[in-house]
Amino acid sequence: MSLETLLKESRERFEDELAEFLAIPSVSARSEHKDDMTRCAEWVSAKLGELGMKAEVLTTPGHPIVYGELMEAGPDAPTVLVYGHYDVQPVEPLDEWESPPFEATVRDGNLYARGTADDKGQIHIHMKALEAYREAKGTPPLNLKLLFEGEEEVGSVNLEDFVNDNVERLACDAAVISDTPMLAPDLPSVCVGLRGMVYMEVGLKGPRQDLHSGQYGGAVVNPANALARIIAQLKDDEGRISIPGFYDAVKELTAAEKKALSEIPVTEEKFAEEAGVSATGDGEAGVHWLERIWARPTLDVNGLLSGYTGEGAKTIIPATAMAKVSMRLVPDQDPKAVRAAFEDYVRSLAPDGVEMTVQIHADGMPWGADPEGPLFRAASAAIDAVFDREPLFIREGGSIPIVPMIEKVLDTPVLLLGFALPGCNLHSPNEWISLDLYHKGIDVMTRLYDEIAQEYAS
Ligand code: BES
Ligand code: MN
Ligand code: MN
Repeated sequence: MSLETLLKESRERFEDELAEFLAIPSVSARSEHKDDMTRCAEWVSAKLGELGMKAEVLTTPGHPIVYGELMEAGPDAPTVLVYGHYDVQPVEPLDEWESPPFEATVRDGNLYARGTADDKGQIHIHMKALEAYREAKGTPPLNLKLLFEGEEEVGSVNLEDFVNDNVERLACDAAVISDTPMLAPDLPSVCVGLRGMVYMEVGLKGPRQDLHSGQYGGAVVNPANALARIIAQLKDDEGRISIPGFYDAVKELTAAEKKALSEIPVTEEKFAEEAGVSATGDGEAGVHWLERIWARPTLDVNGLLSGYTGEGAKTIIPATAMAKVSMRLVPDQDPKAVRAAFEDYVRSLAPDGVEMTVQIHADGMPWGADPEGPLFRAASAAIDAVFDREPLFIREGGSIPIVPMIEKVLDTPVLLLGFALPGCNLHSPNEWISLDLYHKGIDVMTRLYDEIAQEYAS
């Protein structure tokens, strides 16, 4: 059977198997899902085994890593490392899901469930591409190393150790990752830039316990008020971040890069509509909206907690207040330097009468690539064959901390070729993937094997 026919005839079977994968609640942030994480890793590993790979579940101090190798093409053929993550984000708020988050449900040609786009559906694209290729054409003309982690959504700390400790084992000519969106269903995209990140938590402790706000208000410093004042001083009225030295290492876009960005065929109106907002005016005044997301650093409060938030009124001065604050970084900002600058600055803003704690949850380097050479030529050809057009080279505002590390430690070019869409509700209720793009993704990957083999042979 031709590969084309096989892909057509396998659609339902692939979708059913993906639904099985999505049914395992692999939420890495929650300790109650620890066993589900192991079960999910074992599920993936078993599937890789069925594809003829030498696959194993490797334990770490956190969640397991799944690693599989298929080295049948031999030492003269190129070796490609595929990375992805089988962990997903928590699903709350549950009542906003139109169908249960771990029951894959099709609506309007899209498959809904947590992890469809980020990243289980995209891992599955790689698994099924290999399966289809082997069934239709036999052993692919390249060696494959598949590396799937369970801690991407919580910072990839143990994977970083694993990569550092296994440089030879993971040695490759190219890395391919599907964990990003394309710009639109008819605009296949290769992502050539990701932002880095520093994720901090700031706690304030005031009185020993909550106090009557009439008896004490006016004398005792209120941690909620104090935290609000601190947060308000993190950015100025023009949307610039006020931390001293924060912009020192930021690389400005060149005029050519700015021009390319202004020609990207998506509109701010469509973007606002997908986000469900009436305006997109955050960030630095006078800077193009795409540049603000792709190429400028940001600071955002991700969570706030303090005082009485139940029904009705309760007059207190809360004992504590807490904020989770993340910063997205761009080349050439250094997470370590930004973290230190943030901590110094917020500490300088803490008033007497409260005690401050500052801790870090995650960090990662920003990343940028030059889309040139055999890997990107191969990607363009494979994409063109399926989408009938060349890919756009875009940046993204999100972060994948392991990408710059893989590039540097394994000394390999990285291709970010993903099949999600901007409105896919990553990290939100009702996450989905377009089934059309899921199947096109599988098709692209089977062609990428041949294209890479050809490019690297010549
Ligand atoms: N797949 C995303 C990264 C992403 C999202 C890239 C959107 C491009 C566009 C990844 O799973 C993710 O969510 N990463 C985290 C990293 C953090 C936990 C260190 C992120 O960006 O918040
Ligand atoms: Mn992801
Ligand atoms: Mn994610």
